[in-house]
Amino acid sequence: MALLDFSNVWVEYGDKVVLEQVDLSIEAGSFVSIVGASGAGKSTFLRLALGQERPTRGSIWLDGEPLTPEPGPDRGVVFQRYSVFPHLSARDNVVFGLDCAGSPLLGRLTGARRRAAVAEAEEMLEAVGLGDAINVFPAQLSGGMQQRLAIAQALIKKPRILLLDEPFGALDPGSRLDMHELITRLWREHGLTIMMVTHDIKEAFKLGTRVLAFDKRRRDPQAPHRYGSTAVYDFPLDKKDAVIPDALTQMTAR
Ligand SMILES: Nc1ncnc2c1ncn2[C@@H]1O[C@H](COP(=O)(O)OP(=O)(O)OP(=O)(O)O)[C@@H](O)[C@H]1O
Ligand SMILES: [Mg+2]
Repeated sequence: MALLDFSNVWVEYGDKVVLEQVDLSIEAGSFVSIVGASGAGKSTFLRLALGQERPTRGSIWLDGEPLTPEPGPDRGVVFQRYSVFPHLSARDNVVFGLDCAGSPLLGRLTGARRRAAVAEAEEMLEAVGLGDAINVFPAQLSGGMQQRLAIAQALIKKPRILLLDEPFGALDPGSRLDMHELITRLWREHGLTIMMVTHDIKEAFKLGTRVLAFDKRRRDPQAPHRYGSTAVYDFPLDKKDAVIPDALTQMTAR
């Protein structure tokens, strides 16, 4: 059984179709890269997987059960930027993740449980390379460090699925390479399933075990909103030296 199943999924806003006929199975442990032109519905697809948005038609299954409408602790998310709290230190940003996951009814963690949470947060910050920045506030961190913090905040909840929406898009090339190493290591060590949107097709092929490309299968020049996107290419990558198809390079350059 697949971890996540999308069965004939559609997303429509009024008469505007954003996604149509999305039929995909995501296997546990895979690293799925998602590419496509701007507006192709990639973020919408991630929001569906997160449970933040409901399909207007079709169904989504997690472990063979209907996906719950709210984002659950089994799914973590990292956006391109600004997903950390500026008024909290690095440590408290990560502890906050546990505050939410640990006792949603009782509010903040206290006493021994809080001390355990702080120790766990510090360990996670160490793991993402922020061991020296535990007391630092986000404004004092570089873009790459802020993304490390956002990843730590998402991973502390021990999600099985990590959703990344252009997580390295705002970083310089050197920091990007460092983040590639980090995310590959965390994916392996934590046995994660990752779904990552990127505009960088080389990054998609380098990191992914599978690359999905979203685009419209049909177009109506008189009414561009009439048809939605779907996964028009689906490449399983057995080898890391896979050749990027020309059609894909052209499509994502649009
Ligand atoms: N609440 C909404 N109401 C109407 N249209 C929406 C809404 N949310 C998203 N859309 C539309 O859905 C389409 C897909 O948006 P989405 O953000 O998923 O694209 P994307 O592939 O992530 O693009 P980008 O690469 O620019 O981030 C866009 O045309 C957008 O305008
Ligand atoms: Mg997007």
